[in-house]
Amino acid sequence: MIKHFLKISSGVFALMIAFSTHAQTNHKTTKHLPKSDEKRLSAKIDSLVSLMTLEEKVSMIKSASAFTNGGVPRLGIPEIVMSDGPHGVRHEVNRDWSRNEKVDSRATFLPAEIALASTWNKDLAYKYGTVLGTEAKHRGKDIILGPGINIVRSPLNGRNFEYMSEDPYLISVMGVGYVKGVQDQGISACVKHYLANNQETKRQEVDVLMDERALREIYLPGFKAAVQKGNAYTIMGAYNKFRGQYCTHNEYLINKVLKGEMGFKGAVISDWSAVQNTMQALKFGTDIEMGTEMRNWGNWNFNKVFMGDTAISLVKAGVVDVSYIDAKVKRILWVMHKINMFGKRTPGAINTPEHQKVALNVAEEGIVLLKNNNILPLKKDALKSIAVIGDNAVRLQAEGGGSAQVLAYYEITPLKGLRNVYAPDTQKVSFSQGYVVKKDGTADPQLIAEAVKAASEAEVAIVIGGFVHGYTNEWNDKAFDSEGADKKDIKLPFGQDELIKAVVKANPNTIVVLLGGSASDMSQWVNDVKAIAQVWYPGMEGGNALANILFGKTNPSGKLPVTFPKQLSDMPSHSIGEFPGDSTVNYKEGIFVGYRHFDTHHIEPLFPFGHGLSYTQFAFSNLHVQKQGENVLVSLSLKNTGKVDGAEVVQVYVSDEQASVERPKQELKAFEKVFLKAGESKNISLTLGKEAFQFFDDKKLDWVLEAGKFTINVGSSSKEIKLKGAVSF
Ligand code: GLC
Repeated sequence: MIKHFLKISSGVFALMIAFSTHAQTNHKTTKHLPKSDEKRLSAKIDSLVSLMTLEEKVSMIKSASAFTNGGVPRLGIPEIVMSDGPHGVRHEVNRDWSRNEKVDSRATFLPAEIALASTWNKDLAYKYGTVLGTEAKHRGKDIILGPGINIVRSPLNGRNFEYMSEDPYLISVMGVGYVKGVQDQGISACVKHYLANNQETKRQEVDVLMDERALREIYLPGFKAAVQKGNAYTIMGAYNKFRGQYCTHNEYLINKVLKGEMGFKGAVISDWSAVQNTMQALKFGTDIEMGTEMRNWGNWNFNKVFMGDTAISLVKAGVVDVSYIDAKVKRILWVMHKINMFGKRTPGAINTPEHQKVALNVAEEGIVLLKNNNILPLKKDALKSIAVIGDNAVRLQAEGGGSAQVLAYYEITPLKGLRNVYAPDTQKVSFSQGYVVKKDGTADPQLIAEAVKAASEAEVAIVIGGFVHGYTNEWNDKAFDSEGADKKDIKLPFGQDELIKAVVKANPNTIVVLLGGSASDMSQWVNDVKAIAQVWYPGMEGGNALANILFGKTNPSGKLPVTFPKQLSDMPSHSIGEFPGDSTVNYKEGIFVGYRHFDTHHIEPLFPFGHGLSYTQFAFSNLHVQKQGENVLVSLSLKNTGKVDGAEVVQVYVSDEQASVERPKQELKAFEKVFLKAGESKNISLTLGKEAFQFFDDKKLDWVLEAGKFTINVGSSSKEIKLKGAVSF
């Protein structure tokens, strides 16, 4: 920073000091500045831009290396340093993407975002963001490229692990917590991928078609909340097209909706190499073009990009007014101010005990106990032997998945976590491979035989399987939970069904633990095994979290953020809509995504949205629903009637009983995670604003609240409705 000041003239120096002072005295992170402050800041930014040459302005609106835009040293404007990813600060790469082995690139490997969403704990979302922001700061980053908040439209999407849910309200609450956590550390979040990047197949060309209600009621709300409630400073433009125009320079999505209707003041950063057209990027909202140079891999030229030399020529030729460039630079400077790049930032930290504890807590609270026929929690001292079976018991996950990869300080595998319980007496916990991750994806009879023997000799068998973060060197076209490819189906690969059936035949006390980014097909054994736990990708403390849950040190409280179908064809994106489409993909299911489809069309899921078991029981009572001005207050009593402390997620679904248009049977509009000691009860109050009852009228092109009766369903999942109330407008 100081080195920059020495090269600039005194006049500019004075302006920079003024700009920096403004940053010092008025630095607010996720808070909105008072209007007067915004006005003063805007005036200072305008003055700074007036000093810049056209070339200097253009250097800021495009990449200058793999993960930076250009700065303007003459004016003391640094490059902005960006980094993946959503679950941890990615390893360092050199300016040409080669891996930088000279620096310590390790970071906390947090559980995947879908595990975070499964906690339904907005405070944990904030802590998760805080870890990311703090570690990004430590590693010298200004923007962390997360959260990923795309709707989970199909369980086949390779990047579901990086996203949160099928439900826009759950995404909104968890996404806002994450963004605030990051940005309160003086680092910018970058909410991605705007918008409707719900598949990896042909992601850089597919044109997404959907009706306006689906856009407004399902695909936009997470981004709208991130901007208007989270005050997100940057948004990443998605690769795909939307209604015929690339998302990252889409006149409707960016100029009209994001920057117009939502009032987004920050910068739109393109996904890497997502920009496809100079004029559209200049006029339809791209503020920083990243990654286009990747198209000439190895022959890097950061000027031969859409908004590089070409933009300079177009302005000099009078074809494009410089005001388009100025507008981008002003947004970028606004973000830089917000994250104190002209002031002094508080220090970061990395892999602290607090960060490790957040990783553990998110992993524990994100584990969803799907089934438990009186086998869990395991009684550590009463058990003589446990057979742990399966490749996912020992496989490290941190560096898989694509851009979300993390070079973890450590990773406690499920086997390590289970053995930690008995350490040093670990021989109580045997391990057999069970299956291997291999290209042809078939079962290995020898490994199954060994697993069956181990299971028959143990009191309890725990099969740890599911999917893996695909590795391109192993997979090519068969990646599972990874960027760049979608799954072919939801069947467990590598002969796991055969393995599980053989194991449970040898030992009825079989527990199945599944890693993965979304639902899998359990039809062949779901009724035979005693318990099933979905752990997603649980991060570097995952093994300890799993052990704490299985042995009851922590009572499970995770809830499904996505519907688990009995079969893939029950999913609306496969039965009504298209997935993955071809050059065009048509979201014909519209607003009926996930449970909205299952509930409305009376299709029984394998495990419903919001489902998750506990080792204790909760009683819901005394529901009161009453209007309070424009709001509706929902209050009830919740009691822990069991013998162990635990947490329940009180979920509130709204049903419009007299809508003039098609609406889902019910929609999640409020929730609260409540921790209660055994025997304790609490009075819970949740407020529903008018938006909880509205739908988007695609004729009026506005939200409407129709008169009529609404039912308020309160429960522990979308299917476990415990109390019903009503309110009319
Ligand atoms: C990738 C991803 C995006 C990531 C970016 C930088 O292609 O789509 O999520 O942040 O490029 O690695």
